[in-house]
Amino acid sequence: MTYQENLRDLYPKTLERNDNALWMGGVSIKELVETYETPLYVMDVETIRQSCRQYTSALNEVYPNHLVCYAGKANSNIRLIQTIKDEGLGVDVVSEGELETAIRAGVDPQKILFHGNNKSENELKMAIRYNVMVVIDNVQELKKLMSLKEGDENGRVLPCLIRFKPEIEADTHSHIQTGQLDSKFGVSRVELDRLIQDIQSCSKIQFKGIHSHIGSQIFELDPYLKEIQVLVKTIREIKAQFQLDVEVLNIGGGFGIQYRQEESPLDVSNAVRVLAQNLREQCQSFNLKEPKLILEPGRSIVGTAGITLYSVGTIKAMPSPSSKKYLFIDGGMADNPRPILYQSQYTWELDGKSPDVSTERYSIAGKFCESGDILAENVRLPEAEVGDILCVFGTGAYNYAMASNYNRFCRPAMVAVDSGKSNIWVQRETVEDLLRFDCLI
Ligand code: LLP
Repeated sequence: MTYQENLRDLYPKTLERNDNALWMGGVSIKELVETYETPLYVMDVETIRQSCRQYTSALNEVYPNHLVCYAGKANSNIRLIQTIKDEGLGVDVVSEGELETAIRAGVDPQKILFHGNNKSENELKMAIRYNVMVVIDNVQELKKLMSLKEGDENGRVLPCLIRFKPEIEADTHSHIQTGQLDSKFGVSRVELDRLIQDIQSCSKIQFKGIHSHIGSQIFELDPYLKEIQVLVKTIREIKAQFQLDVEVLNIGGGFGIQYRQEESPLDVSNAVRVLAQNLREQCQSFNLKEPKLILEPGRSIVGTAGITLYSVGTIKAMPSPSSKKYLFIDGGMADNPRPILYQSQYTWELDGKSPDVSTERYSIAGKFCESGDILAENVRLPEAEVGDILCVFGTGAYNYAMASNYNRFCRPAMVAVDSGKSNIWVQRETVEDLLRFDCLI
């Protein structure tokens, strides 16, 4: 098996090599760099579509009463959300910015979920204005929402879910675990009853069901099966205590993607099928009405679709006895904070040079004023030269979304490639953009 075949799940679906020159979406990397410069985020539209369909096709077949809500936090801009909406998905949002992006992308408000553990009054008002489903995080938030709804003359009833902690610890980085009892998100079993009771006393808010999310970058099915078991038990208890059928069950997102050769993510269609069938069987055995199943994938929709391109500006060899060689690139921790935050590792290639002759080892360092701004250590690559284009895979999720302006650098542009054409989705920032918020008096 060649180097590339081993990494098939890690590459965007349309990635091709012509004499080692990389092409994506029918456009050469060289042309993209000439047109848009570096650093550059590039998204493969075909991979996004196929990732959406892995969810929707499997669920259409085995569990038609469903909604797949893309977790906008993974990467959000109007054109990207439009692409996902065109595949029939809804969107999960956590801020006014993400909500407005989804609305302007034309997403039906009935397919939008509003999350967050500390929603502001303005955020709640906006949720009320668009009448999107609110995922209530805590008792105080419900109080705030009830009082805002009291003053709302619009006759509509606001649908809501309650975020519940299933007390399951998924095997992932501690910063991205969410289901455990001391997680900042959601309520415990006892608090859940209290919230349902309170919602029932308010005619302007309707309890639709429960939500839980156990974490991110998860490679195993078992924690999800446990989650469903806990949730079905909770649905039964709610039915017994409140004579209520839980209409909606949202099991969150979290499926991992392949970033490196040694990682094996779940097969999404298969995993979704198994989970939906498991839910169905449990509902049948306890004589429960099947709830609408909501899933909220983020990373597994956009992660593999995205790559980032950097130019090599300097190659710096450390004096002996160190054999370390740095490749200095024109981006770093501000366009990809994941290595410094979670010690994330990626797969790197040089455009135009065969990875099969990776004779060198490099540390890839960003240009930000911080020693920790190293995107990767000890990366095997062909011999690099100044001016080479370095390509890093799997950057479609939580890179642009978490990018900053550290050191007053401008955030890169994002372009999409599809059927031989490139399209700008997000403009490159300019220094003028950064200065726009500075007050002179
Ligand atoms: N639903 C909820 C309530 C979430 O909090 C998240 C992610 C998702 C869905 C989507 O999870 P996904 O399918 O993308 O794993 N910045 C971190 C990831 C943080 C995830 C936050 N919540 C990273 O770069 O790895």
